[in-house]
Amino acid sequence: MPEALTETGHETILILDFGSQYTQLIARRIREQGVFCEIKPCTQSAPDVLPPQVRGLILSGGPDSVLGPSAPPFDPNWLNVDVPVLGICYGMQLLTHLGGGKVARGTHREYGKAHLSLSTESLLFAGVPEKSTIWMSHGDHVETPPADYRPTASASCPVAAMERDDGRRFGIQFHPEVTHTEYGTTLVRNFLFKVCGCTGDWSMGSFVEEQVSSIRAMVGQDKVLCGLSGGVDSSVVAALLHEAIGDQLHCVFVDTGLLRKDERASVAAEFSEYQLTVVDAEHEFLSRLKDVTDPERKRKIIGETFIRVFEEEARNLGGEIKWLAQGTLYPDVIESVSFKGPSATIKSHHNVGGLPDDLQFALIEPLRELFKDEVRALGKELGLSDQRVYRHPFPGPGLAVRILGDITRERCDILREADAIFIDEIREAGHYRAIWQAFAVLLPVKTVGVMGDERTYENVCAIRAVTSRDGMTADWYHLPYDLMGRISTRIINEVKGINRVCYDISSKPPATIEWE
Ligand code: XMP
Repeated sequence: MPEALTETGHETILILDFGSQYTQLIARRIREQGVFCEIKPCTQSAPDVLPPQVRGLILSGGPDSVLGPSAPPFDPNWLNVDVPVLGICYGMQLLTHLGGGKVARGTHREYGKAHLSLSTESLLFAGVPEKSTIWMSHGDHVETPPADYRPTASASCPVAAMERDDGRRFGIQFHPEVTHTEYGTTLVRNFLFKVCGCTGDWSMGSFVEEQVSSIRAMVGQDKVLCGLSGGVDSSVVAALLHEAIGDQLHCVFVDTGLLRKDERASVAAEFSEYQLTVVDAEHEFLSRLKDVTDPERKRKIIGETFIRVFEEEARNLGGEIKWLAQGTLYPDVIESVSFKGPSATIKSHHNVGGLPDDLQFALIEPLRELFKDEVRALGKELGLSDQRVYRHPFPGPGLAVRILGDITRERCDILREADAIFIDEIREAGHYRAIWQAFAVLLPVKTVGVMGDERTYENVCAIRAVTSRDGMTADWYHLPYDLMGRISTRIINEVKGINRVCYDISSKPPATIEWE
């Protein structure tokens, strides 16, 4: 059976993905405007009739040439749909090629800022000045639009935008979804509200209402299990389910002994009204990790131990639990439908997806339509604290991949203290939200120092703070020197076991964010 084009009742924009690195960004820009949208692979066949809630279609950019042998297969019936169509970059070239216009082969790729000059009135460019800055990334370009189209703007290429005479088909050679395009948001809004006639009926409030009633209908009187790690995704899943089914939800928090300072207490406090089982598994994790130094072995042992502990807890809760709630997000879902195969996204290794089959849970994944920023907005809507909703990502294996070499309880305690001071200082100085991830790393390297009249011989602590959009690439964050000074002084003075602090100034690539 072909996959449904859209499952919500909201006004929807469909995006056909031709493999552009910016496709998810287009979707986010649209949703930011309160309009729901879905990404489908460009290989999907066109339906005879579109679902009534679909208001418009976007053909994304892509790395191929419409003239080349590697152009992905595409059902031309998509161009006959009865809603407005916007082709971006590759999408514009496709409209041209299939409409009888001429696409010229590029000899090199143009990449970067360019200047757009509007040549005529167009609904798509309402409110955009005659000259503005845009972001280009293309090889081929449109030389002659199809006969029933007119050029509406030029840039470094003669036809930077074009429009069909009936105002229902548009092509743009540049990327409105990228922030460097000065009037990108205006253009997206014009397409949604002026061209497609959307009203903007997608909000987190309506999402909560719909999910609550659909979860209730699906689950009935059954019980649902949710692994709560304290991270954003699992916290929001738990909050949403709690809103829907209250005490039919059972959360399990596993204290691996590899968590940050006060993590367990803060989860217990924030979720104190939930049916929450806190499992103290520190001994089990640390004893299995004894003398293990290889990072991948550490990850494997932690993953296996986590599943064992979680499974035992599920069995303890009795056979009446039928459902398992998981924090799968939209990028994971798109990844599995993309025609190009896995796109570059980070998986949460902490998922309990590897549970044995005999537990036979049915899955509830209420966040599968959402992007990370929407998950945060949902968390706020559900009343979670800012600290929970805006917290930095924390890896499943926890401090184990931030203590190089052997993991001992003592080393975990030292690192926990140093890390807490670091985070406390960057929060205090107002830098926390600008940073993607900040943490301390304990190096099993002893160096000499002096404290008072005494010689010390203690560990080195590295601190790392990076900016990133999705964890795939990262730059080290420019912390002010005086703040670095305070952090270093406090860590060395307050944490016994550390007498030297270094700042990690490596970007990813070639380094990674975590040290192991
Ligand atoms: P790297 O170190 O690969 O990290 O640059 C990229 C992002 O992934 C997180 N990370 C992990 N998350 N289990 C996780 O759940 C892991 O084993 C793991 N390793 C890295 C890391 O914190 C960063 O956000």
